[in-house]
Amino acid sequence: MIKGLFIAFILTTGLSSLVSPTEPAAAIQADTLKESLKRGEKVYMANCQSCHMPEGEGIPATFPPLAKSDYLMKDQKRAIGTVLHGLSGEITVNGEKYSMDMPAMSYLSDEEVADVLNYIQNNWGNKAKAVTPAQVKAERKK
Ligand code: HEC
Repeated sequence: MIKGLFIAFILTTGLSSLVSPTEPAAAIQADTLKESLKRGEKVYMANCQSCHMPEGEGIPATFPPLAKSDYLMKDQKRAIGTVLHGLSGEITVNGEKYSMDMPAMSYLSDEEVADVLNYIQNNWGNKAKAVTPAQVKAERKK
């Protein structure tokens, strides 16, 4: 009986400290993504826009677009790998072929890669589930 009460006490105090009643979980998540996008814009402007252009429109037959890119949006793991390890060989993006090399950007931190992917995947008409630094870390080992 006393043991049961003790467990109930631990459970209620433990849970109430985890779940704050004023901030529902979904709102916290949306806010985190918003912060990630803000950081990601800086990473994009410093490392990507020279080739993919400021609005992600790319350059025809040279640098593929990221805005509404079917290739980018199809496979999130592949997108993480592209930034970390670079990409070479012919690819088709929105029906156009590209075959220049993209350099690896493994000098970016796990958080920077997650932020820049969140920026390009939730901008210019794109929308996707958030990428986490942990996912980037797992992909970096490959
Ligand atoms: C030096 C130019 C250059 C830079 C800088 C660059 N890329 Fe690329 N990127 C390319 C090229 C070229 C390809 C196509 C590679 C191929 O054809 O195999 C590509 C392909 C891609 C693709 C897959 C194709 C698509 O359009 O969906 C993604 C995603 C991508 N880049 C993201 C990024 C991100 C994010 C950054 C910055 C962290 C970046 N790139 C920086 C040249 C660049």
